[in-house]
Amino acid sequence: MSDISSQLHGGYAHPLSRSWQGQSRRITKSMFMYPLFISDDPDAEAPLKGMPNQRRWGVNKLPGFLEPLIKKGLSSVILFGVPERKPKDEIGTLADDPEGPVISAVKTLREKFPDLYVACDVCLCEYTSHGHCGILHADGLINNGPSVKRLADVALAYAKAGAHCVAPSDMMDGRVGAIKRALIDSGLVGKTSLMSYSAKFASSLYGPFRDAVASAPAFGDRRCYQLPQNARGLARRAIVRDVGEGADIIMVKPGSIYLDILAEARQLAPDHPLAVYHVSGEYAALHAAAAAGVYDLKAQVVELSEAFVRAGATIILSYFSPELMDWLDE
Ligand code: PBG
Ligand code: ZN
Repeated sequence: MSDISSQLHGGYAHPLSRSWQGQSRRITKSMFMYPLFISDDPDAEAPLKGMPNQRRWGVNKLPGFLEPLIKKGLSSVILFGVPERKPKDEIGTLADDPEGPVISAVKTLREKFPDLYVACDVCLCEYTSHGHCGILHADGLINNGPSVKRLADVALAYAKAGAHCVAPSDMMDGRVGAIKRALIDSGLVGKTSLMSYSAKFASSLYGPFRDAVASAPAFGDRRCYQLPQNARGLARRAIVRDVGEGADIIMVKPGSIYLDILAEARQLAPDHPLAVYHVSGEYAALHAAAAAGVYDLKAQVVELSEAFVRAGATIILSYFSPELMDWLDE
């Protein structure tokens, strides 16, 4: 009954997650999930250097910003917390602070926009003093066991606050199974989707994001948990593993330069919705190239989105989501 692999309801509890079960070969507005940076300053609307048109939003400013986008067809968002006021610590206590930015924003958005699908990124790097995605041993290496336990607690707190989807981006081993188990044990498994960043590569394309959320590691890098760039085999194993651990949605990240992996993920998980994260560095580079006259921004973003869908994606996490609500017909 409470077997991890027997839990399907959470993956189609919402009308939008039901629509993602099909495999459309057309790009549609409902495929786009918009990543939002949420500050703990409730009145923030701070522009981000390095990411044109994106801001760190305070909870008070979010509804006014999102309302016109939702009217145009935006159907889902994914939230990233940015604590700017309270001090960070070794275990990322602020990640599930009941008054913290993510939990406050989930509650506000669920109340103001009942039809909006709200996902929460689950990671510790925005909240730890050392900027790594898990809890560390004294020597600075990741301590996987306690990290997984902590991430499952954080995911559960977001699910309890009303998130439709929890999305671990930390890349610890076994966190998908631990989160699924926590959802089962709390009775939330039937209404909360679990989207796993399964094939997330150690990439030079995350720079603008790390500036935006102040999550760059204080020492070392993320190469011992994010995948090596050449690692097709590890990517395949991680995808298969996460399917086995109960992921409802599989993700590949970054997007454009990992289309081969996206197509592999489609083969390895043919029966799951498949997400691709078109990341901050790709976003910034497109803006810079368009400004330099290399191409028309809209034409290139639409062409790229077509490529994601052609490779097998059914969900695209994109900072271009607001523009796409104007650029696409439905
Ligand atoms: C943190 C996280 C990162 C991104 C999403 N979640 C950065 C990282 O792993 O360093 C990147 C998103 C982007 O670049 O747009 N775990
Ligand atoms: Zn992280």
